[in-house]
Amino acid sequence: MKLLVTGGAGFIGSAVVRHIIGNTGDSVVNLDKLTYAGNLESLVKESGSNRYTFEQVDICDRAELERVFETHQPDAVMHLAAESHVDRSIDGPAAFIETNIVGTYTLLEVARHYWNGLAGDRKGAFRFHHISTDEVYGDLEGPEDLFTEQTSYAPSSPYSASKASSDHLVRAWYRTYGLPVLVTNCSNNYGPYHFPEKLIPLMILNALEGKPLPVYGKGDQVRDWLYVDDHARALYKVVTEGVIGETYNIGGHNEKQNIEVVHTLCDLLTELAPAGRNYRDLITHVADRPGHDLRYAIDASKIQRELGWTPDETFESGIRKTVQWYLGNLDWCRRVQDGSYQRERLGVSE
Ligand SMILES: NC(=O)c1ccc[n+]([C@@H]2O[C@H](COP(=O)([O-])OP(=O)(O)OC[C@H]3O[C@@H](n4cnc5c(N)ncnc54)[C@H](O)[C@@H]3O)[C@@H](O)[C@H]2O)c1
Repeated sequence: MKLLVTGGAGFIGSAVVRHIIGNTGDSVVNLDKLTYAGNLESLVKESGSNRYTFEQVDICDRAELERVFETHQPDAVMHLAAESHVDRSIDGPAAFIETNIVGTYTLLEVARHYWNGLAGDRKGAFRFHHISTDEVYGDLEGPEDLFTEQTSYAPSSPYSASKASSDHLVRAWYRTYGLPVLVTNCSNNYGPYHFPEKLIPLMILNALEGKPLPVYGKGDQVRDWLYVDDHARALYKVVTEGVIGETYNIGGHNEKQNIEVVHTLCDLLTELAPAGRNYRDLITHVADRPGHDLRYAIDASKIQRELGWTPDETFESGIRKTVQWYLGNLDWCRRVQDGSYQRERLGVSE
């Protein structure tokens, strides 16, 4: 199979590319605009494979998308390209509307025309897999509730509203045009190659530098954490074995308050990178994010029952691996933090 992966230079997309190149015989075309979140240094090994190709393309650019489909003739699309950071969506929603909504629409249209032009088995086997988030469901009320595939959409932030909108477009392209789509909604991911603006890498790197660890409000927001490689395996299962038109929720059964996550990180760093200080002393509470959802938690029983997927990592094993990865890859982090990962690909000397 040849898979067109959009956003393959991002955090989850690069894990998907590493999974496909490392564990299957399939080929990947990584289509990515390389915004600030795209980093080809997450794919150094894979870029040497003859089953890997990179195309620097914006999903809003219809002519370029048509060229990529025409040139590479993919068997399936895994659509991960998005603006993904909630805080950035509050400061500047325009890019979220453009990429997440208009970009997904443009990709759907190009995929539809391409799929219409396929014949026989290739047409029957084609899939358009849209990768989305549990944030489209909004807040959970009681401690027992879980998001199921039937939960109504109630997004709270410009980010989650733009992702909800893209999910609706994908389903409409299935209902209206018969495009063979699959949708997945996943909980918070963590793991290697996560951009240092997100909670877990930010806390690890700030702690190592002795900087404050800023926690929103009381830190009592609950998220359901999934190790990124478990997500990548789930996505490959869905695109290869999922039922057309279906939605699958993906989650790790790991509900944790943000403050618990930060405490765990501090304690792991005390063990793995002792610096004669109690890292917990660096925690500072800052004003809460507007519209901050209190609790997300996923019921992932459908994908477990129907496709036989379960996560390999517990939160305890995954978070330990993650801290170890950051400690062993501080150079990757430094190059993101000082911007050299972007300057060098633009040919700008340091
Ligand atoms: N991170 C999570 O916890 C999480 C959880 C569930 C779902 N998701 C979804 O998974 C997907 C990937 O998330 P992530 O955390 O890897 O995001 P990310 O921000 O790390 O990566 C996004 C990638 O998309 C690329 N991109 C952005 N705009 C583009 C455009 N216009 N054209 C082409 N490429 C573009 C970026 O360059 C980057 O490589 C997103 O759709 C997100 O909504 C993320």
